[in-house]
Amino acid sequence: MFKRLNEIEGPTVTINIEGADVQVPEGETVAAAALVHHLGYTRTTSLSGAPRSPLCMMGVCFECLMEVDGSPNQQACQVQVKAGMTIRRQQGVGGTDA
Ligand code: FES
Repeated sequence: MFKRLNEIEGPTVTINIEGADVQVPEGETVAAAALVHHLGYTRTTSLSGAPRSPLCMMGVCFECLMEVDGSPNQQACQVQVKAGMTIRRQQGVGGTDA
């Protein structure tokens, strides 16, 4: 569904999204990386378990909450990728109580 408009130029980093190592441009947001790599959804709701995906991409809607390097409830659209980062979908409220 989402694709880059241009080829990646400049430095890239390797991150892991749901078990897959991928190359992304340095400085890209976690949400953009998840969308471009066809993650489909980034979290599920705590009540119904419905899948949700990033919406506003500017820190307002909180639909993009993900687990980043083991920390739940990270706004993926506000976090820049870093080399070696591990990103997982957030299930419900996240953390060990999910
Ligand atoms: S996509 Fe809306 S807060 Fe991240």
